Amino acid sequence: MSDAIDLAALPHDFRWGTATSAYQIEGAVAEDGRSPSIWDTFSHTPGKIDNDDHGDTACDHYHRWRADVALMSRLGLNAYRLSIAWPRVMPDGDGLVNPKGLDFYDELIDGLLAAGITPSVTLYHWDLPQALQDRGGWPERETAEHFAAYASVVAERLGDRVSHWTTLNEPSCSAWIGHLEGKMAPGLTDLTAAVRASYHLLLGHGLSAQAIRAATSGAEVGIVNNLSTVFPASDSPEDEAAARRHDGHVNRWWLDPVHGRGFPADMREVYGVDLPERPGDLDIIAAPLDWLGLNYYFPATVADDPAGPVPHARSVRRPDVTRTGMDWEIDASGIETLLLRLTHEYGARKLYVTENGSAFPDTVGPDGTVDDPERQDYLVGHLAACASAARKGAPLAGYFAWSLLDNFEWAYGYAKRFGLVHVDYATQARTIKGSGHRYADIVRAHGELGRGAA
Ligand code: FCB
Repeated sequence: MSDAIDLAALPHDFRWGTATSAYQIEGAVAEDGRSPSIWDTFSHTPGKIDNDDHGDTACDHYHRWRADVALMSRLGLNAYRLSIAWPRVMPDGDGLVNPKGLDFYDELIDGLLAAGITPSVTLYHWDLPQALQDRGGWPERETAEHFAAYASVVAERLGDRVSHWTTLNEPSCSAWIGHLEGKMAPGLTDLTAAVRASYHLLLGHGLSAQAIRAATSGAEVGIVNNLSTVFPASDSPEDEAAARRHDGHVNRWWLDPVHGRGFPADMREVYGVDLPERPGDLDIIAAPLDWLGLNYYFPATVADDPAGPVPHARSVRRPDVTRTGMDWEIDASGIETLLLRLTHEYGARKLYVTENGSAFPDTVGPDGTVDDPERQDYLVGHLAACASAARKGAPLAGYFAWSLLDNFEWAYGYAKRFGLVHVDYATQARTIKGSGHRYADIVRAHGELGRGAA
């Protein structure tokens, strides 16, 4: 069935990996000097997370990382995307560095390298130190400046062994879901705060890119956005305009400024909030990147919704469409469309799929295996679409499946399982799912192609 994937379209040195993030897997939230992040606060606020789950223990990766690296080796992977917990490294968000926090990542990086796995390090996957939130968080400019200082500390310590850096993961979720919809930390519903946060996140991206490059030589710096293909619910001019606004909200607002195009004028009008601009900021935000990361999960179909919240575009549920356990529509063609859009419209020089995956309610069978045919179909379908984009000229250099392990799925808690490896949270037992074995087969088949050609 992996025949469906045009593996020969992918470069020989393709990075095959999985992705995770600190708060979703590490646990050990009060160990070795780590301070609370906004996600500790949010997840311990009753009613915010399904089942009132939280990340206190999660996958206990902080203590079990050696076994988790061994799992990656078993799967034959050559890359791993992880994130650093800012509150482990700088518990107050600024100022004092916690050596034990850095030591953890130092050892993990060494362990990965010893296993032949190239680390790809994300500096911010949503876990802002609570101390900085208490001082205003991302709506305040100082947070962007502290982020750059933290980036510099991490790059100085790990930059001799890590060359692949991501500044931000999905800043649109931080800004829009965290500050406008209130469904993620810090849980605000305030348009002005959200727009200011979006601005300072991108400023923090630019400042931290500078900091990484100043601290280490040969760094390859990128940003990771979650993008959607967007379709109007009908061909009425109103729905088409709504689709354009939704595209502006989830895609262009995040892509245009980092590509030197400034913040989209139409969306500035939709938001109607003054940006906290200072001369020179746009140049910092638009510093050339070495690569772009795409997280792709689902497409969007939207209708005009003048009375609804910004951007006045209501998601429409299409009938008779296959969906994942998140109720997210499955459309593999979207990943190809977006890779080609980044190539042609934004001139991307190098692309990575930094996340892609699906949740389904998996169980360990009586024979001890986890059979997940739907996730396997999702994986193969999306990899086929990636290879097709590469065949058409997208400079795709790697794919990171979300996720290595079942983990803390934010507001959904532990109920949603995205892993290629099943986690039994009562015992912390790991079981490679059918999809994990399938991924390993695909990676092996691609490697054999390379050897054949050599
Ligand atoms: C993305 C997040 C990631 C994970 C997946 C399912 O938006 O970056 O942490 O939760 O969704």
